[in-house]
Amino acid sequence: MANQEDKFKKVIAHAKEYGYIFGSSEIYDGLSAVYDYGQNGAELKKNIREYWWKSMVFMHQNIVGLDASIFMHPTTWKASGHVDAFTDPLIDNKDSKKRYRADVLIEDYAEKLNIKAQKEIAKAKKRFGDAFDEAQFAATNPRVVKYLSEREEVLKRMGASLEKEDLNDVKALIEELGIADPDTGSKNWTDVRQFNLMFGTKLGASADTATDLYLRPETAQGIFVNFLNVQKTGRMKIPFGIAQTGKAFRNEIVARQFIFRMREFEQMEMQFFVKPGDEMKWYDYWKETRLNWHLSLGLGEENYRFHDHDKLAHYANAAADIEFNFPFGFKELEGIHSRTDFDLKAHEEFSGRKLQFFDPELKESYTPYVVETSVGLDRMFLAVFSTALQDETLEDGSTRVVLKLPAVVAPVKAAVLPLVKKDGLPEIAQQIIDELKWNFNVVYDEKDAIGRRYRRQDANGTPLCITVDHDTLTDQTVTIRDRDTMEQKRVAIKDLKTLISERVDMEYWLK
Ligand code: GAP
Repeated sequence: MANQEDKFKKVIAHAKEYGYIFGSSEIYDGLSAVYDYGQNGAELKKNIREYWWKSMVFMHQNIVGLDASIFMHPTTWKASGHVDAFTDPLIDNKDSKKRYRADVLIEDYAEKLNIKAQKEIAKAKKRFGDAFDEAQFAATNPRVVKYLSEREEVLKRMGASLEKEDLNDVKALIEELGIADPDTGSKNWTDVRQFNLMFGTKLGASADTATDLYLRPETAQGIFVNFLNVQKTGRMKIPFGIAQTGKAFRNEIVARQFIFRMREFEQMEMQFFVKPGDEMKWYDYWKETRLNWHLSLGLGEENYRFHDHDKLAHYANAAADIEFNFPFGFKELEGIHSRTDFDLKAHEEFSGRKLQFFDPELKESYTPYVVETSVGLDRMFLAVFSTALQDETLEDGSTRVVLKLPAVVAPVKAAVLPLVKKDGLPEIAQQIIDELKWNFNVVYDEKDAIGRRYRRQDANGTPLCITVDHDTLTDQTVTIRDRDTMEQKRVAIKDLKTLISERVDMEYWLK
């Protein structure tokens, strides 16, 4: 745990030191759970967004993009259920005065049981070696069975109580399990209450005539209300998808863990409209497709797992999270939801407009079902950044800090470094930049000895360094150094563009 905390502190400090993430309005002491992306952060974020966008819109002939407004007609949120049901169950500790999400306290308790079970399994694996049958052990070892079944029971009871809106039972469960305030150990709890997460604002100049609006808490509704516009103007046939990225806002009460849970954040969502009855097939398809997209970034298969929901949102008939192993443990990175026809039907009812598709094969109209994939861009950023940040001990015993960002999303693709600041080397370096800058974000660096410059670029996450030296003057070659392997190769200047492309282009990563 201490290790995890140390690692997380390092991530936050490194993100600031290298211009990735700053606290919002820091000169005024910041604003809680709101962050700004610096010069490198803005690039990394944009590249992740583009990696997602192209994988959705360019790679699928039946998926198109949309850019809807943040402000929407207020009835949108009545229809979507957010006014009535977009709430979190909160509980306060009377002694510490700290506020927590009741469901998160219970989920953390359940996760501890899971960790205990996994520890037993790992110990047995070590003891029995190759002969170990993990599935059989997990199903028969009394301790593992006890931990896992208790975990399941706890989550089931919480799911059922929340479903029934029985908040007294949620509190009773917290008390029965002996869950204490994680910060102080106190078990002196208030009742559990529901709290709406939407931010309200006003449209209009005078107080009497102003309309109450909400800042959108998800981008998805912009897609639903434009379903027919896009379907008709794009002549889209079911199944088809609409993809969108953009800001969303939630008045998170327990906003913590850096950019993991923010009040203003960005989502990358895709709504896939399907024939009723086909939704489970597409739900499975998108679960697999989205996991493969994550895996393509090379952050390690062991860092992902699915979590199927026991407690379903008000709009879903099936839902799963792709969880990622963040510095503070496995947490939700992306949600995949089968949203049925809930949203389109609700918008039909509230707007009085038909939001249906005429199926030319069936020769009938129906309200499509929707499978949604929804990933937080900031959470993607944190997943990529925190996994990439590594302390490495080299063969000669020295150490380096290296940010092994997947090259496809790295903010700077290459640094061009003249070995010395004279003899015409800076001019050649500048010419190389002038040729490469049309295709790649490249930087120039001439300060300090070459070794220090390499280390600086390693810590900055730059996958390639290109060094111009005296041989370049005669043979038009440079040294290209790889951030991860630290290998250096002599290559012709004219081949640089191809070599960088092969390392950073989306084609090589997504394929
Ligand atoms: N349209 C469905 C929807 O909004 P969600 O599970 O509430 O579903 C989807 O959110 C994703 O948005 C999450 O998996 C997470 O990555 C991201 N997200 C949600 N709340 C967030 C917050 N407060 N800060 C950062 N990212 C958040």
